[in-house]
Amino acid sequence: MIQRPRRLRKSQAIRDLVSETRLSPSMFVYPVFVREGENIIEEIPSMPGQRRYSPDKLPIILERAANDKIGGVLFFGIPAHKDETGSAAWDDDGVIQQAIRISKKEFPDLTVIGDVCLCEYTSHGHCGVIHDGIIENDPTLEILSRVAVSQAHAGADIVAPSDMMDGHTQAIREALDRENLQDTLIMSYAVKYASAFYGPFREAAGSAPAFGDRKTYQMDSRNVREAIKEAKLDIEEGADIIIVKPGLPYLDVLRAVKESCYVPVASYSVSGEYAMMKAAAANGWLNERNIALEAAYSIARAGADIIISYYALDLAEEMSQ
Ligand code: PBG
Ligand code: ZN
Repeated sequence: MIQRPRRLRKSQAIRDLVSETRLSPSMFVYPVFVREGENIIEEIPSMPGQRRYSPDKLPIILERAANDKIGGVLFFGIPAHKDETGSAAWDDDGVIQQAIRISKKEFPDLTVIGDVCLCEYTSHGHCGVIHDGIIENDPTLEILSRVAVSQAHAGADIVAPSDMMDGHTQAIREALDRENLQDTLIMSYAVKYASAFYGPFREAAGSAPAFGDRKTYQMDSRNVREAIKEAKLDIEEGADIIIVKPGLPYLDVLRAVKESCYVPVASYSVSGEYAMMKAAAANGWLNERNIALEAAYSIARAGADIIISYYALDLAEEMSQ
């Protein structure tokens, strides 16, 4: 008898019925840039369609996120003043703390995730504190813990440390628990590669390192077993969710991590991926809706439970049509 797999493809409805991968708004997280100031909504040139908002203007975009019923928003803070230790990051009245409070007040059901790192807040643009030109791991842990506690006190449901210091999850977990913040989740960037795909983000957040690069703390793109080791360490330290980043160029890593770990895994489809898709679409070379959707399906198929994407709102709206 001739096997007829084509039967399963005979109509859109049947293809939908038998599809192995499904997307839903609830799996998407939308990154939002919040900058200090008032009455500001500004376009980010390196990421067409994305904007920086001052806290007072945030509800405009948060309302869309809440209506789309996406899984959450991920805030990145851009302070007015930077210093050596990134002190604006743990200011209880800092820009990200304000954003978190506004979001939880106006849209209590929308899950709020705070990015915990120092590079947007330090004058040198590194993710840790510096001594004699070296990024110091352990002194950075104390600062990151303060940042996380301050965001959790402001109302963050989840904190997301993206610094790649060793032991960050344990340090943050202990600090949160000491403050009776046991219910705050940690979504850790356990697997974050030193990637050229972050270029547009660094322009958006003003966080490019002033000297050197991030290769001493972020991962080497040639490695995959190291990713599993990093992920397992973070889980032992108490990570509730782990992130693999970037997205599309690292689907093999995502799959390997998914198969060897038993916590939800998020994939971060980063600024460079977005910028490439936007640029090709703007030139009329690719169909933007179709590639954004195909990219998201590919990431989900590779094992992502959660997709962090600058297309989160567009895709969620696409799905509810
Ligand atoms: C910094 C941070 C980066 C991103 C998120 N947090 C960039 C970096 O490591 O320089 C990149 C996100 C993106 O490119 O979309 N801790
Ligand atoms: Zn950083």
